Amino acid sequence: MQEVLESLAPAPGSFQIDATVGGGGHSRPILEATSPSGRLLGLDADAAAIARTRDRLASYGNRLTLRQANFEELAEVADQAGFDPADGILFDLGLSSYQLADDARAFSFRASGPLDMRFDTGRGVPAATLINELDEDALTDLFKRLGEEPQARRIARAIVARRGREPITTGQQLADVVAAAAPAPPRGRRRVHPATRVFQALRIAVNRELETLPVALAAAVQILRENGRLAVISYHSLEDRIVKRFIAAERRGCICPPEAPICVCGRQPRLALVGPQPRRPSDAEVARNPRSRSALLRAARKLAA
Ligand SMILES: C[S@@+](CC[C@H](N)C(=O)[O-])C[C@H]1O[C@@H](n2cnc3c(N)ncnc32)[C@H](O)[C@@H]1O
Repeated sequence: MQEVLESLAPAPGSFQIDATVGGGGHSRPILEATSPSGRLLGLDADAAAIARTRDRLASYGNRLTLRQANFEELAEVADQAGFDPADGILFDLGLSSYQLADDARAFSFRASGPLDMRFDTGRGVPAATLINELDEDALTDLFKRLGEEPQARRIARAIVARRGREPITTGQQLADVVAAAAPAPPRGRRRVHPATRVFQALRIAVNRELETLPVALAAAVQILRENGRLAVISYHSLEDRIVKRFIAAERRGCICPPEAPICVCGRQPRLALVGPQPRRPSDAEVARNPRSRSALLRAARKLAA
């Protein structure tokens, strides 16, 4: 939280966007820092998160605008809500603790509810459709690419064999199949559940996480006013790589091939780094909130056009 506030530096009266408002844990201190007249636009793909945060942050009245939307629609949503330009934009990627605990969508391998995993249950297809319909090669590819799972083929084969007897419909059923196909190594070598990477891969695929992020980052740079701040927290290497490369390209500006003798693209740098990159949570924060242990924060400032 402290690092996010330092990165965004939200001034009183400024216009801020929280593109992943979740339970409003970051939005509230940002609203406090922009008091008395600053405004915040909060987006979340998850209707339940928007409803909960509308209740929780009701005391901020018309300083807070909430929209249920995927952040790939950031350009239109910000424009319609009067937040273009904005002074700061935050992305806190991935899923919230509420979602992890939501048995009805089975983000967790302990869930007995239907294998869904969509942030927005009104769009796309649930994870159960992928698990029960993709062939062995496609499942292997999915677990390898999006979960970096070394036993992807064995797990895919076990899933195909199991669903031949009965469909896999719950988080717990999938976790059991994965654990039987790729058991955790002896104690001490790996502390995570054997199904962790498979669940991550499914969640990324179902929510198109690696496709929506570059669209949203490009919109964010466009929306920020001069000296406006961008802060992004990611939780796994695939999304952090996208953020890192995006910021690097915007710092460089020119996209001409290295062998070109002079620049012909004419693109100017649009971002400069803010603070050390990436920033990680302090030991004290990890002790308080173990889920923060994989968080990486990257922050940048918009340069003059
Ligand atoms: C880590 S949580 C955010 C927690 C929040 N910062 C807080 O303090 O309560 C991530 C949130 O982003 C939302 N989300 C993930 N991808 C999204 C997307 N493409 N568009 C909009 N919301 C998204 C999820 O539904 C989830 O509520």
